[in-house]
Amino acid sequence: MRKPLVMGNWKLNGSKNMAKSLVAGLRNELSNNTACNVAIAPPVVYLDFVKHQLDGSNIILGAQDVGVNLSGAYTGEISIEMLKDVGVTHVIIGHSERRTYHKESDEFVAKKFGVIKEAGLVPVLCIGETEAENEAGQTQAICARQIDAVIKALGIQAFNGAVIAYEPVWAIGTGKSATPAQAQAVHKFIRDHIAKQDEKVAQQVIIQYGGSVNDKNAAELFTQPDIDGALVGGASLKADAFAAIVKAAEQAKK
Ligand code: PGA
Repeated sequence: MRKPLVMGNWKLNGSKNMAKSLVAGLRNELSNNTACNVAIAPPVVYLDFVKHQLDGSNIILGAQDVGVNLSGAYTGEISIEMLKDVGVTHVIIGHSERRTYHKESDEFVAKKFGVIKEAGLVPVLCIGETEAENEAGQTQAICARQIDAVIKALGIQAFNGAVIAYEPVWAIGTGKSATPAQAQAVHKFIRDHIAKQDEKVAQQVIIQYGGSVNDKNAAELFTQPDIDGALVGGASLKADAFAAIVKAAEQAKK
């Protein structure tokens, strides 16, 4: 049985005060949580602060991105060893906002995947098609291409212990989530695509859904057999909404 992972991606939001009250709220709401892994990914500047707020809780600390270099003359970059040093275990890469605004290519994202694995941490690889690609019937081809870049660079075994987040770009921050059936169809395609190379790797890989997940639509999404939790943006900024999503995952996967 795969243990679902519900991860909050705070994006460019937050402050020390906000982090303090959000984490306190989550700790309060999720004190008995065991059936679902829970992670939060605050902006990098607050990671160390949030790690201290999380002391003694089983909420996982995640990062929203990482650089590909380990040290040296790379002004403004953050390395995987630095993330590890402050207690990060899960690192989001390839988010559509980085692919779009920072022109990150499939190959560059695959490089990040390798750096994270090399450090013994968990990559959360975001993939997904744009609205135009969806309408052109290219959803499967885009997802396959984004996964294949990692397989080509690192081999299929790199997906052991890894997380994939299927996030249709048209569903991110729009309030227009994919339907449970739509998402399940793509998740099954992704798992089958990996199974073509290695059945065991496919069975254990966590495939999250992301894109306008909230406390209203989460439960139905999680009843789908290939949806193993969610990557949550907007709704992860409110303790009660995020906790409700975690509880929906625990309930659905019992
Ligand atoms: P959203 O963002 O939940 O606000 O749609 C999801 C994401 O981008 O990870």
